[in-house]
Amino acid sequence: MREELLELIPEFDLIEDPELRENTLRAWELGMTEGGWTLDDLQEMPFTLLINPCPVDFVEHTRVVVLIAIEAARIFAEHYGDRAPVNMDFVVSGGILRDVGKLLEYERDKNGAFIQTREGKLLRHPFTGMELAARCGLPADVQHIIASHAGEGEKVTRTTESTLVHHADFISFHSIKNLAQTKTLVSRIDR
Ligand SMILES: [Fe+2]
Repeated sequence: MREELLELIPEFDLIEDPELRENTLRAWELGMTEGGWTLDDLQEMPFTLLINPCPVDFVEHTRVVVLIAIEAARIFAEHYGDRAPVNMDFVVSGGILRDVGKLLEYERDKNGAFIQTREGKLLRHPFTGMELAARCGLPADVQHIIASHAGEGEKVTRTTESTLVHHADFISFHSIKNLAQTKTLVSRIDR
């Protein structure tokens, strides 16, 4: 599982701190195990249930969000320097993990479509993802990115790292959402 995850999401290797990289991977592995997903499932999983059919899968969206956030952090470093410091490791780890709770929020229905579980409605992925991260020893800065990346974070004062990840996420989400045909809470991948 680990080798395949590293192949699917090579950005794990951009985390420089070995302990942070290890714990980020462990949180993903734990989500896969507790959600009961295979790697095949993962590659068929839409990144959102709000777009059906969804032209982008979960892994693609995760990678795009991480890569956009990294670019934003690089531009901050180049232009703002120490006036707006950004911890790149937190950006990468938080970007990779911000949606990991979806592995607990979703399930397949009897037709194989991805749907939201009852538990997933009650505790969306910012909550379950943060909990997975906490169990795997991720620091509060990374838990904060996960907890505050979506609408649940609107009352929270986001760190710079969380702000970059949040907006990178919504750059992708809003762009793809505009392609939506329907907005029912059931989805499948359509390439
Ligand atoms: Fe999310």
